[in-house]
Amino acid sequence: MIPRLKPPLGLHELLAAWSLLPRHSVARFEAAFAERMGQQHAVAFPYGRTGLVALLKALGLHGKEIICPAYTCVVVPHAIVTSGNTPVFVDSESGGFNMDLGAAQAAVTDNTAAVIATSIFGYPVDLDALAAFQAAHPQVTVIQDCAHSFDAAWQGRPVQREGMAAIFGLNVSKLLCSIFGGMVSLDDKKLHEKLLQEREAMLSGPGLGKGLRRLAYVNAAWPAFWGPVYGLVNRLERSGRLNRHVQYYDEARIDMPADYLVAMTQVEARVGLANLKRYPRTLRLRQEAAAHYFDHLESRPECVLPPQVQGATYSHFTVLVDEREVLLEAALDRGVQLGQLIEYNIPEMSAYGSGPADVFPRSAGYSRRSVNLPVWGGEQVAAKVLKRLEDLLPVR
Ligand SMILES: Cc1ncc(COP(=O)(O)O)c(C=O)c1O
Repeated sequence: MIPRLKPPLGLHELLAAWSLLPRHSVARFEAAFAERMGQQHAVAFPYGRTGLVALLKALGLHGKEIICPAYTCVVVPHAIVTSGNTPVFVDSESGGFNMDLGAAQAAVTDNTAAVIATSIFGYPVDLDALAAFQAAHPQVTVIQDCAHSFDAAWQGRPVQREGMAAIFGLNVSKLLCSIFGGMVSLDDKKLHEKLLQEREAMLSGPGLGKGLRRLAYVNAAWPAFWGPVYGLVNRLERSGRLNRHVQYYDEARIDMPADYLVAMTQVEARVGLANLKRYPRTLRLRQEAAAHYFDHLESRPECVLPPQVQGATYSHFTVLVDEREVLLEAALDRGVQLGQLIEYNIPEMSAYGSGPADVFPRSAGYSRRSVNLPVWGGEQVAAKVLKRLEDLLPVR
């Protein structure tokens, strides 16, 4: 079975998790992360969403409108609500998955305090359009959501650096992984101090229990993604028996994980530190896989290829198909698990008022038609995927 994702974790990360001696691993991870992202500071959190809640609080925002994409990970508006603010959704841009920044301008009101510019699937936010937004609305704080992009670059400019701060998620599905975890990177000294204070006030210490659970997790993650074992895991997943463990949202509820206020563990930080060294290779594999798909697939109305963009990190390679369920099932029968992230249009979810699909037509369309091809294994795995699926995808 070729899994839809495989965490970028290897022997180094496993050894790092077990090397119990190094101290201050969280602070060292923060420093190394900030340096890698070309920023003055980075602050670690148990999840990216916790970082967003803390950041909005550190910015002093409460009872405000925060503009965010309709087509993003649902935990983002959940974090906005948790921070005491209101998400205002904006549709995707024409021909791309990122938020339409022109429409975002139209959504600004007297109560708008921030905009979350997301580089979804690793596609860099159009920084020129974002600069136009800022020029028109200088009172609105720009927060970059780099959970999928890490250091994706718009025409050579890394996106994470153009805004007040950037948030990152570091779970096993991301380009950079610390088992779980999140990071906020920023340059502003005062905001950094406020963010540290906010973290101190919000989070409790992780304790030994959480550290041991994370250690167990990283040990289990290793064999779990090995082909034959993953085949078994996938059979359990298809039978619905793993739903409780793999479903990260409930359509009807705005909630956060039980441990979202428990600080990042030293184990996670050590894994993250080791994983930072692997990042160039992780990125190269994804970009090579994407290049292979672009070279060997043809865009057709029933299977539309994503845009090819310089500087994209391709956390996902997302095609739009007419018969998603049929394709997913047929691919599984051929030993390939395809992903379906993001398979919802947030304003349509009952937690956000079950709005009609036609208000955000692009987001609604993507949510129904998107399928992700595996990118974790570079060109080699991409070639295998296309070989197995040549009768299902428009292979040249
Ligand atoms: C686009 C996006 N933003 C933010 C996050 C938040 O990250 P976390 O899951 O660590 O809270 C995610 C999570 O997957 C995401 O996909």
